[in-house]
Amino acid sequence: METTTALSFKQLIKQGIPNELPSVKAYETNINHAPKRKEILSDEEKKLALRNALRYFKPEQHEVLAKEFLAELNNYGRIYMYRFRPDYEMKARSIKEYPGKCKQAKAIMLMIQNNLDYAVAQHPHELITYGGNGGVFSNWAQYLLTMKYLSEMTDKQTLVMYSGHPMGLFPSHKDAPRVVVTNGMMIPNYSKPDDWEKFNALGVTQYGQMTAGSYMYIGPQGIVHGTTITVLNAFRKIGKEPKGSLFVTSGLGGMSGAQPKAGNIAGCITVCAEVNPKITQVRLDQGWIDEKITNLDELVTRVKQAKENKETVSIAYLGNIVDVWEKFDQENVHIDLGSDQTSLHNPWAGGYYPSDVSFEDANEMMANEPELFKEKVQETLRRHAKAINQHTVKGTYFFDYGNAFLLEASRAGADVMSETPTIGREFKYPSYVQDIMGPMCFDYGFGPFRWVCASGKAEDLAKTDAIACKVLEKLKKESPEEIRQQMDDNIQWIKGAQENKLVVGSQARILYADAEGRMKIAKAFNKAIKKGKIGTVVLGRDHHDVSGTDSPYRETSNIYDGSRFTADMAIHNVIGDSFRGATWVSIHNGGGVGWGEVINGGFGMVLDGSKDAGRRLESMLFWDVNNGIARRNWARNKGATFAIERAMKSEPSLKVTIPNLVDDKLLADI
Ligand SMILES: NC(=O)c1ccc[n+]([C@@H]2O[C@H](COP(=O)([O-])OP(=O)(O)OC[C@H]3O[C@@H](n4cnc5c(N)ncnc54)[C@H](O)[C@@H]3O)[C@@H](O)[C@H]2O)c1
Repeated sequence: METTTALSFKQLIKQGIPNELPSVKAYETNINHAPKRKEILSDEEKKLALRNALRYFKPEQHEVLAKEFLAELNNYGRIYMYRFRPDYEMKARSIKEYPGKCKQAKAIMLMIQNNLDYAVAQHPHELITYGGNGGVFSNWAQYLLTMKYLSEMTDKQTLVMYSGHPMGLFPSHKDAPRVVVTNGMMIPNYSKPDDWEKFNALGVTQYGQMTAGSYMYIGPQGIVHGTTITVLNAFRKIGKEPKGSLFVTSGLGGMSGAQPKAGNIAGCITVCAEVNPKITQVRLDQGWIDEKITNLDELVTRVKQAKENKETVSIAYLGNIVDVWEKFDQENVHIDLGSDQTSLHNPWAGGYYPSDVSFEDANEMMANEPELFKEKVQETLRRHAKAINQHTVKGTYFFDYGNAFLLEASRAGADVMSETPTIGREFKYPSYVQDIMGPMCFDYGFGPFRWVCASGKAEDLAKTDAIACKVLEKLKKESPEEIRQQMDDNIQWIKGAQENKLVVGSQARILYADAEGRMKIAKAFNKAIKKGKIGTVVLGRDHHDVSGTDSPYRETSNIYDGSRFTADMAIHNVIGDSFRGATWVSIHNGGGVGWGEVINGGFGMVLDGSKDAGRRLESMLFWDVNNGIARRNWARNKGATFAIERAMKSEPSLKVTIPNLVDDKLLADI
């Protein structure tokens, strides 16, 4: 009889779900686990969840597994099938180490394993990559079966993924995507948060976040880069040099923790408040903050000194952000740039801590006196907004960081509504996409392009960095004034990327590029692969981009023609990418801001140095960016009209409808 331990990594992958039941695994307490999900299924529905889970296994195993899976459902709110978690190390290996008949499929296996790597994933045993519930799969049977299919597939088959479940391999053709992924696609009326709880517990859907369920997450590098671009452009928006200027914000968590590091890369003074002492210490140990201060008077003295010396420094204030805004107002510490990244999308369960209550007491109050906790949160939010308003009248520029700060503050009755509201600009302050990322990046086609060196070699990554830098430097010379700044920022970023040591997991890099930049960089990579200078490269991007995501309060919040509540752009994007040569495509419900609030999609593309790869990259990358620019242009966004007209000049077969603008005087009396 075969024992699993005797099998090699390749054999284990090819085996899929083992014939013999592996032994039960202990629940490891040193691993960061997903929280227990709320009890949502009726007894009858629990039976359905078990029936659904057991269909992955032979009937003779059902008796044992039914009891075990029911216990998982009762203890954790989900059936993860912990027993089937593989024993081999979960990490991206070199592409050569994967079994199979198809290089593209091997690259996808590498990306899947990277998303589940313990150094990358938030709750690796529950197959959650980030964002608390952003899953690659819902259970280990899905993982095992998917890897088996990928190890068997040829380049004339397509694997169909239904929200984590591998439906199977279907005959297709060489130019078709090898994998098509959907995550959380629901009939629109069944897309509320509790619907996710219920249908995910039943095992029939999952929340793929953005890059988790599309196998494209590359660790914290993406967040650091995006935040750096935001901070740099925010300073430009206000016409100030970062050097000697002060940026005040809060949160040192998953995404928010990138703010001080980004502030340092941009070159300003960053003060970031965080109430959780453990998290503050982690960021200090990691070197993502330079100093920690626990006393407000000391903080004022230190910030004044840093301003005087024009230092580049990041300071964590261990305490409530509201106290910082109020103290700086009293002490006349001028804040140049202000924002907030507490988790206000989740205000009643630890996303936002009230002032005047200790961190420990707040945690107790939240569980035992939820109504009082809510009152305290809302009271703090009103104070928070009031203090920000005091600063903005003195010249501070404040922006909402996509964390629902303005939304929750308005619900708490804070003074944050605009006195002259227009469609999409209901609040006093803009969101980061409305004022910064939208008009300065997305409308021109600049977005988070990324690649992974499938050889796993750091030297390949260094070579791709050099290639990308050379391409951008050449492009910059011919760039129109409108986009030169973006080129400069990314050249500076790529030059500092090695030094900033941003790689966690696979050998990956991110930078912001427009359609032309993405195509030229990809072409140069493909050429280098052909010449044997580097190994296979996987291209991709974050869903948080020009065309992939329809999200009315984030990615498409700077669309003011009323269409920001539609999702045609994201759907067209994924369909268009799929027949233009993407190696895999994905379309999700809810990425970034929650189920029902957004439709977001992405792609992966394998470059192997072939002519076919060269043809596909040009066709697909051109569409992948210009689709969104065309739509942003139709919404009357000036930068996008500029960019699409430029694209039409470079590619005569592109013909896009340009909007005619109405003289507002004509409508004044209507
Ligand atoms: N950076 C980005 O690119 C980006 C983009 C869009 C949205 N966001 C949003 O930003 C928010 C933060 O994301 P995250 O992953 O960092 O969440 P997180 O929960 O990991 O971190 C938030 C941190 O804020 C702290 N906090 C809460 N209330 C506080 C208070 N009053 N004073 C000081 N600290 C307080 C918490 O202790 C926590 O550590 C989310 O709502 C997310 O959706 C981030």
